[in-house]
Amino acid sequence: MSDSRRQHAPQDIYTREPWRLVETRFDERYLAAAESLFATANGYLGMRGTCDEGQPVVHNGTYVNGFHETWPIVYGEEAYGFAKLGQTIVDVPDAKIIRLYVDDEPFFLPTATLEGFERALDMRAGTLDRELVWAHSSGQRVSIRSRRLVSLEHRHLAAIEYDVTLLASDAPVVLVSEVVDSGGSTHPNGDPRTRQFGCEVLDAEVGRAADARVVRGYATRSSGMTLSCAIDHEVRTDCSFGVKASTDESAGRVVYSIDGTVGTRIRLTKYITYHTSRRRQVEELCQRAERVLDRAVEKGFQGLLASQRRFLDDFWHHSDVEVPDNPEWQQTIRFNLFHMCQATSRAEGVGVPAKGLTGPGYEGHYFWDTEIYVLPFLTYTKPRIAQNLLRQRYDCLEEARQRAREVNQRGALFPWRTINGNEASAYYAAGTAQYHINADIVYALRKYVDATGDGDFLKEVGAEILVETARLWVDLGFFGRHDGKFRINGVTGPDEYNTVVNNNLYTNLMARENLWYAVKTIRALSEDDPQRFASLVRDIGLGADEIDGWRQAADRMYLPYDERDGVHLQDDSFKDKQDWDFDSTPLDKYPLLLHYHPLVIYRYRVVKQADVVLAMFLLGHEFSHDQKRRNFVYYDQLTTRDSSLSCSIESIIAAEVGEADKAFSYSIEAGLMDLADVAGNVQDGCHIASMGGFWMTLIYGFAGMRDTGGRISFAPKVPVRLGGLRFPLQIRGQRLEVDLTPTSATYTLRGEAPLTIVHEDELVELEPEVPSTREVRRRPQAAGGAPAVTASDAEAVTPAGGPS
Ligand code: BGC
Repeated sequence: MSDSRRQHAPQDIYTREPWRLVETRFDERYLAAAESLFATANGYLGMRGTCDEGQPVVHNGTYVNGFHETWPIVYGEEAYGFAKLGQTIVDVPDAKIIRLYVDDEPFFLPTATLEGFERALDMRAGTLDRELVWAHSSGQRVSIRSRRLVSLEHRHLAAIEYDVTLLASDAPVVLVSEVVDSGGSTHPNGDPRTRQFGCEVLDAEVGRAADARVVRGYATRSSGMTLSCAIDHEVRTDCSFGVKASTDESAGRVVYSIDGTVGTRIRLTKYITYHTSRRRQVEELCQRAERVLDRAVEKGFQGLLASQRRFLDDFWHHSDVEVPDNPEWQQTIRFNLFHMCQATSRAEGVGVPAKGLTGPGYEGHYFWDTEIYVLPFLTYTKPRIAQNLLRQRYDCLEEARQRAREVNQRGALFPWRTINGNEASAYYAAGTAQYHINADIVYALRKYVDATGDGDFLKEVGAEILVETARLWVDLGFFGRHDGKFRINGVTGPDEYNTVVNNNLYTNLMARENLWYAVKTIRALSEDDPQRFASLVRDIGLGADEIDGWRQAADRMYLPYDERDGVHLQDDSFKDKQDWDFDSTPLDKYPLLLHYHPLVIYRYRVVKQADVVLAMFLLGHEFSHDQKRRNFVYYDQLTTRDSSLSCSIESIIAAEVGEADKAFSYSIEAGLMDLADVAGNVQDGCHIASMGGFWMTLIYGFAGMRDTGGRISFAPKVPVRLGGLRFPLQIRGQRLEVDLTPTSATYTLRGEAPLTIVHEDELVELEPEVPSTREVRRRPQAAGGAPAVTASDAEAVTPAGGPS
């Protein structure tokens, strides 16, 4: 186990509360991790959970989703069709700083003597709250309270309320509220998965200050994007004070000089707004920022708090997963879901970065993480947001067509990693070669359509994606000379430790599904909506014979299978690879990608993340129960879980095949990925895919839900140690409430039309408002020694391949 894994903050700092993540002591060792865990965001704007005073800080990130700079990728050896421009999210000017001086002494958290300290991420209020008393050696004592929020209702807006009260004697108090150009560094911590740009890639074009307001405007040097950032303030106090605003080349400041009197509260409210554009002039964005500030000041902080609470009440109503009488699980669940809310709620016209807006990891890029790990949660809790994210892919279809041409293919190829729709992956083996992204998008589209019944979206948006992705697959693969099977060579599946392989099982299965869905949808369209069909013929040259081609490729898809061992093969070469020596690989050599040259890893039979196992989850109906069991046992021992995307999927299949202990401990691993810093890199941001995966371990794993072909079924396996599980799902506009114990299941439909579901093997006709209770016959095997959810238990979480 690597040192970083042991560094997670101990239980005495982070206490267990169902609605709050609480830090009871300031400890600089956990600063970087806490900046990610305590981040506040709304899917558009994100601020790391840094100290209000700006120092000390590790990654001082503020991010606007999609606001990026481009840079030429320089290859030592160029080749045709390589991605040309890198895209990196920019750490925008930092507007959350409020410095405090009492009697000219700066308040600096690490050296201050504190009488009491508490910082909490309040997941119901949507605020980051801090409360402490600073005891100065002069005898002065100062109460400091702050509340920070990034508004979920008003996507461009954040606000901070900062209260200071002198407790011992009168003294001058100075509050300096700043917006400061952030400094960037390419790889802040040397990890190749992290790159960051700060304001050095921005040209400051506007800077003005008046009254208590500062407005600044910028343009990127190369991506052609513009940004405005503005702050405004209000002070409420009976103390007398003066205010001065100024701005210079790299910062804007509003300084309050206050004659502090003992016992009199000084309340500074700071309103912060950011606006970005690909087209607009900087000045226009600055004016927008000023209008938003006018409105914010009018609403006041209380108004923002109230709307934040309303938003979250609605979020929890649709999304909460309750585990009655289990505060530890409850906090873990809510923490993960809250960050999902923060990563996606206002992601309009943009995607979901792998780390949300909590850190610089993966440069703010969107991956398949969105479709396979985040969209299931959104589809069943907030389908409107799921639709936004699918539409965002559609908006980038033209770039995907262009990319297909660049890699000499027909149709469209969606980028493996991107912000602006173009491929940003410079490492094709574990990047561009992951053609499965096309099928992942289509899979998520289908699930969305099945769960919502949104046929219009399928017609208007989905159909074109289906045609272009189907074209790519038939063009990419070929019919084998000897067996006439359709084969797809030279691709990388989800497992990034086996790259550029022939016939990756996951890819072939998902491509087949993609093709069949395209055939079904486009044929139905030709009959039911000839007009739309005609528009596809006219606009994108759809030919009738194309559809037959898709069908043949799908029907004759080759799927690698090893008859002797009775397991599906991850790809054609998998079986013949040399075995990785897990016994001699010390735990500090994980993740392997940080310790071994890729070519070494690629030679071995070692798996980074669920691949066949993921196929068995997404397309479970394609496998028999016995196959699932054999495949799971075979791949589980070869999988390092070096990707945070792995354990959740393994948990779900472990639950299905009756490996209850593994299902439980892998679920914990996903749930604590960030809270206990399982992967050792939470400082770079929270793992949003793992968070979505954790939700899936509860719903698809323990509740045993499946949603094949639009039919919802449950085969619950709630571990005895969990006690129970209660959650709502949105299904075709109605609300299904599921209430499970280890031995019973109650389903209640809130809506108007009956709904048929499956419980175990029984069809259950649900009538609105009438609860239906069923016994759970397939009892879970007691999760005997399975650990409880505590941070210290997470230390027991080790790569499956390594000695544990
Ligand atoms: C995983 C990918 C994932 C990416 C971003 C990588 O480590 O292997 O599957 O998309 O991280 O989360």
